[in-house]
Amino acid sequence: MTPSAHRPISAQTRLCAVFGAPIRHSASPAMHNAGFATLGLDWRYVACEVAPERLMEALVGARSLGFCGVNLTVPHKLLALPMMDVLDDSATTWGAVNTVVFEAEDPEGMWVPVGRQREIRGPVRMRGHNTDADALVQSLRDDLAIEPRGARVLLLGAGGAGRAAALRLADEGVNNLWLLNRTESKAQELADEIAERFPAVEVQTGLPDSDVEIIVNATSLGLKSTDPLPLPTDLYPLRRADGVYDMIYRPAETPLLRAAREVGCRTANGTGMLLHQGAAAFTLWTGCAAPLEAMRAALVSELHGH
Ligand code: ATR
Repeated sequence: MTPSAHRPISAQTRLCAVFGAPIRHSASPAMHNAGFATLGLDWRYVACEVAPERLMEALVGARSLGFCGVNLTVPHKLLALPMMDVLDDSATTWGAVNTVVFEAEDPEGMWVPVGRQREIRGPVRMRGHNTDADALVQSLRDDLAIEPRGARVLLLGAGGAGRAAALRLADEGVNNLWLLNRTESKAQELADEIAERFPAVEVQTGLPDSDVEIIVNATSLGLKSTDPLPLPTDLYPLRRADGVYDMIYRPAETPLLRAAREVGCRTANGTGMLLHQGAAAFTLWTGCAAPLEAMRAALVSELHGH
């Protein structure tokens, strides 16, 4: 589907942005601008390189400039937590902010996203959300056709992305969760947190002693073609999993996904997760259902050139 032509930028154009460092390769502007164009909205989305020590300044600046919303990517998702005026339950529960909604009071005194109001009077506050965690579960269902509830899952990585994924999968009701991380103590800390917050989930660190339905890679291994696999496949062969999900979306096929495909696993990369987190942010800002297929087409074309 070809996105419709953009409405020309005018004095009324509403603005959103993504802040990150580095940011030059972000595919979010292509995805969101295709969404705005498809719905005929006079909105634009830009990417801004923001150093971590400038994050607060940048957020306050966007608020002063009347921006409707901001996405945050590496390295800002944890740093932003204490900077928000209000945290949505999603941000508190999954421990990170990837979407900021600027809100102002409407004539009835209700806090409403500024993108859904014509005239903004009075103070504007920042509300932090997390749309990443739900996006993972949705993408596992849509792209791997595997239901996380009741599943046995091996999760690779216990950094920021790994922690949010582990907590969200536990909340979804996976049966068993194995956490594998280079720094074993971080996997253990996360396992302890899950055992406390989600006592019904059987959580362990290290390699599984059984087959699993899903392996999820939440490490950064695979971004570079020279990276080793994030899993010792001599000790735990990939054919012991039904599906392998890699949160990395560029390259489209990481060495892990290639190896998994070659032994017959279902595979999916992180494009679906990127799409669904973006679609949820789009709806929070605009109040409109996101045109998923147009956004997906723009994302795939931007990321993989087809
Ligand atoms: P993110 O927010 O993307 O999760 P992060 O918090 O820096 O970023 O986490 C990166 C993850 O990739 C961690 O699980 C990290 O392992 P450590 O906790 O041991 O640092 C993992 N990772 C990064 N480089 C790695 C490497 N060379 N070998 C194994 N794991 C690596």
